[in-house]
Amino acid sequence: MFRALLIVCLAHFTIGETISGRVLLNGSSSSTTRLPSGCQLIVKVTSTAMADGPVTVLGSTQYSNVVSFPTSYSLTYTPPVDVPIDFQAVSAHVTCPNGARYLNDHRIPVPKENGVDTVVNINVIDIRGGK
Ligand SMILES: *[C@@H]1O[C@H](CO)[C@@H](O)[C@H](O)[C@H]1NC(C)=O
Repeated sequence: MFRALLIVCLAHFTIGETISGRVLLNGSSSSTTRLPSGCQLIVKVTSTAMADGPVTVLGSTQYSNVVSFPTSYSLTYTPPVDVPIDFQAVSAHVTCPNGARYLNDHRIPVPKENGVDTVVNINVIDIRGGK
């Protein structure tokens, strides 16, 4: 059972696509914002089969000590053949030990001209205040 799962995973990996880019705070690619130590970044590619259907994680990557914005990420995932690209999106979430949190404030679709290597910059905002 485990071996079968592993083979499936490896098969997915070999035919996966790569999405990479930078996570920007407030859309700024020029100014650097330092983060407290121990901040964690998770970037995910998700899909919903229908507009309001359940969310499936297609791929994700995690960085355990992000020191500043902008920061780079890269992940590999397998685009599902049965889900239109319109229903696939990229998201980023940063959480810090001091309670600071950063999330993308808008839905970020996977670009339609999705090739083997796709660059997607993700804009995040500070949501510490729970807004
Ligand atoms: C980002 O934008 C928010 C809301 O406008 C602002 O309070 C914050 O200071 C900005 N942060 C940086 C580093 O520009």
